[in-house]
Amino acid sequence: MIFFRDSSGQVQCIADKCCHRGASLSIGRHCGDTVACPFHGIEYNRNGKAVVIPVNGHASPVPENFKVESYSVQEAHGFIWLWYGDEIESLPPLPFFEELDEMSYSEIKDPWPVHYSRCIENQLDAPHVPFVHRTTIGRGNKTVIDGPKVVFDDETLTFYIKSHKDDGKIVAMKPSQILQYKDWFSLQFRFPNIWQNLIAPKMRIFAAFVPVDEENSVVYIRYYQGIVRIPLLRELMNFSGKAFSKVVLRQDKNVVQT
Ligand code: FES
Ligand SMILES: [Fe+2]
Repeated sequence: MIFFRDSSGQVQCIADKCCHRGASLSIGRHCGDTVACPFHGIEYNRNGKAVVIPVNGHASPVPENFKVESYSVQEAHGFIWLWYGDEIESLPPLPFFEELDEMSYSEIKDPWPVHYSRCIENQLDAPHVPFVHRTTIGRGNKTVIDGPKVVFDDETLTFYIKSHKDDGKIVAMKPSQILQYKDWFSLQFRFPNIWQNLIAPKMRIFAAFVPVDEENSVVYIRYYQGIVRIPLLRELMNFSGKAFSKVVLRQDKNVVQT
């Protein structure tokens, strides 16, 4: 895919393969509302339709079959969102945790050599924490978990987790028997691919799991906080939040990619 901004600043997305000889449009030329192929200069508009075939002269009509796939994209919450499904009349609302827009954030982008569902499973998997993150967020050997109690409210899955050291007792409580869980540690997942760890009301770790192909994904991790707002201090705090998240994420990736 190739992404470009049209003359009004809107992000557009079309397939990155010229319909003529298959050259990659992404190394071509961006001409305002069109993108020109680097090979013979065919220009495509935002709908993926060829509008100029230079060899025929600018005035010649362009045959209908000169076109590439185009995708609906929207820019919001610091991301570009792409609708990959069949064309539909109106797109569903973007999935996001709206409260995050009130906070500032820092971000890391990390390629993982696995399908994106492997990344999601890992972020919802609580028992790995004392093993994979023994030296960071999993200190204290809390290997036994109550729950998780999972609540699904239409859009969001919330996982409530309480971990503790092994006290020699058998964990026999079924999730349906757990009634007091609201103050437990919690994680949220929203389909198709966003997640947050609710550290505090104004502090979150957010992730977007972006599929690339069957064996590759890109994980975006953001450290969000709404506590420190003074510019320099805020950047300092966001930088350390991101640096720590990077260490934790590397620990996950190290195991998941195997
Ligand atoms: S390959 Fe793109 S114009 Fe020929
Ligand atoms: Fe982890």
